[in-house]
Amino acid sequence: MTLPDSAAQDLEEFGQDLTIIGTPVYAGRVPKTAVERLKRIHANGTPAVLVATYGNRAFEDALLELQDITVKQGFSPVAGAAFIGEHSFSSEAMPIAQGRPDAQDLTKAAAFGKALRVKADEGSLGATDLLLPGNSPHREGWNKPPMSPVTNKDTCEKCGACAKVCPTGAIDENGHTDATLCIVCLACVRACPTNARTITEPMILGFAKKLHDNCSTRREPELFW
Ligand SMILES: Cc1cc2nc3c(=O)[nH]c(=O)nc-3n(C[C@H](O)[C@H](O)[C@H](O)COP(=O)(O)O)c2cc1C
Repeated sequence: MTLPDSAAQDLEEFGQDLTIIGTPVYAGRVPKTAVERLKRIHANGTPAVLVATYGNRAFEDALLELQDITVKQGFSPVAGAAFIGEHSFSSEAMPIAQGRPDAQDLTKAAAFGKALRVKADEGSLGATDLLLPGNSPHREGWNKPPMSPVTNKDTCEKCGACAKVCPTGAIDENGHTDATLCIVCLACVRACPTNARTITEPMILGFAKKLHDNCSTRREPELFW
């Protein structure tokens, strides 16, 4: 559901297969775009594993919010996990959780999957109530002001790589960006083969510096079932 054309997909109701539902964490919450898209999927008691990926600051209420949303859509969450991924605002100059998930994280993810499989085979998955950390009501999300990365016209080759990865369809084929649609995930910056896309917004660069300075202590994946 990451790309905007998922909005045109016909979604069948989920059956009884164990379903993995993942979201990034934005300001300790599920990103609004993800909330809207998750509301399009429906289930009827489908067991679900909920995964929140965050950038080594904190996942706060995101996993609990994901549980609330998926329960409303008819899922039956049986396990949850918070994993660390390189922060969207990380760069070579200002690394934040660079290289995450790493081999250690992936080993933990695989062990989590195997443990869930054993529980599923024994029939004990979901036998107890799933208690996920977080506050209810959830913390206030971030109301992003209109802003976006910019394209350097001299180095842009109009290859369209940025537009292809944009989850909100905010970028046209010439690299022009609708700053109100942009969610500053910076996927376009990473996808650009000529480094023509950059973020110069002082607010984002300020967040990046704060996160680089204050969130460098390694956090570990947390598993719940
Ligand atoms: C707008 C925004 C807000 C974010 N808020 C948080 C946060 O509150 N805590 C955190 O640890 N990481 C935060 N992150 C980092 C992402 O959760 C992390 O980089 C995640 O792996 C991004 O997933 P993606 O690569 O699928 O975009 C934020 C990223 C963005 C773009």
